[in-house]
Amino acid sequence: MQAAPDLNPPARLLMGPGPINADPRVLRAMATPLVGQFDPSMTALMGETMALYREVFRTANRWTLLVDATARGGIEAALVSMIEPGDRVLVPIFGRFGHLLSEIARRCEGDVVEIETEWGRVFDPGQVEDAVRKHRPKVIAICQGDTSTTMCQPLAEIGAIARRYDALVYVDTTASLGGNELRTDDWQLDVVSAGLQKCLAGPSGSSPITIGPRAEKAIVRRRHVESGIATPADRRGPGARIRSNYFDLAMIMDYWSEKRLNHHTEATTMLYGARECARILVDEGMDAAIGRHRVAGEAMAEGLEAMGLRLFGERAHKMANVAGVFIPDNVAGESVRASLLADFGIEIGTSFGPLAGKIWRIGTMGYNARKDCVLTTLAALESVLLVHGAKIAAGQAVPAALAVFRAAEDAKARAAQ
Ligand SMILES: Cc1ncc(COP(=O)(O)O)c(C=O)c1O
Repeated sequence: MQAAPDLNPPARLLMGPGPINADPRVLRAMATPLVGQFDPSMTALMGETMALYREVFRTANRWTLLVDATARGGIEAALVSMIEPGDRVLVPIFGRFGHLLSEIARRCEGDVVEIETEWGRVFDPGQVEDAVRKHRPKVIAICQGDTSTTMCQPLAEIGAIARRYDALVYVDTTASLGGNELRTDDWQLDVVSAGLQKCLAGPSGSSPITIGPRAEKAIVRRRHVESGIATPADRRGPGARIRSNYFDLAMIMDYWSEKRLNHHTEATTMLYGARECARILVDEGMDAAIGRHRVAGEAMAEGLEAMGLRLFGERAHKMANVAGVFIPDNVAGESVRASLLADFGIEIGTSFGPLAGKIWRIGTMGYNARKDCVLTTLAALESVLLVHGAKIAAGQAVPAALAVFRAAEDAKARAAQ
């Protein structure tokens, strides 16, 4: 008698706000045999992974490594290591994930000040500067792409603002890295973390992070190496002990350093996957990958509008890799999603908080930022909407999206001549 049936999930095309279908190259890498955590081949792979993610984050930061956790774990590691109890933290909120940063910062016992803008909009750098001038935070914690609203916060000026007032900047790029421009060093961002399951084309479960020299200084001040592995040479920093052992970036940095001071046991299979995600992006070229996301996102948006649907939020600040689209009047949103899943094997996303029941979120990211995925999704959505009696323009969406892809292909061919 079998204890349970074979593992055989249904075939799905994941076109929601993430997770998406992992690139088969990543899944193959994750089937690679294991080696010991201090095997020279493993430590060499850790070094390669650091170098690859420096390219992805566009940084020269030495401390560019993986936190073994989903993206939320990377956020916690950053914030619990940066925020000492009582530190003032400014959180500009433009969606659900800004609230998450605020919630985590409060659990770190930060003195949190929130500024909030309407969902569907982003902050003008001047608004952030006014708040920084008024509240003088030690840390500014902000999202780049907030998938809950599909908005992408411009960040180019935030780092310079932080430096003028001697604050550190933390950025959550879970949903945006690899599909929207991010320049860690040029934009003077101190700590940036991400996840694999969106534009990086992997499964969730590893959080790449980069830590700049100013943040390193603040974190190393709080170094308290665990008893049992500390040697007399491991001096304690003068700062307050980091309130989490697992997410203590000072100890995680020691583990990824030449010292290889043991912390957790590196999640080898996730490291193989994360390394492959970065290798795919770096092989393609970061600009090319961002361009691919831009074209797929535009094609999806044009197709949705050609069908007569209305997009949510400021178009100028839309994330390249996800579109929010209003559910048409008199259409049961959940019934449409259920039919897409059951009849076409396609998943699109629902929404949270004030947008629940009002918009769907449709992603075009990572391995699925492709022409066939966009066209299949538009064709299926159109059919399901017609069956649901929605008043839409039939036959328009696929040609509109195709026109965007054709224009991009022509431009690429001209540039190559
Ligand atoms: C912007 C953003 N931050 C954080 C997270 C949390 O990531 P995870 O579910 O991998 O912990 C998500 C997940 O969707 C996200 O979109």
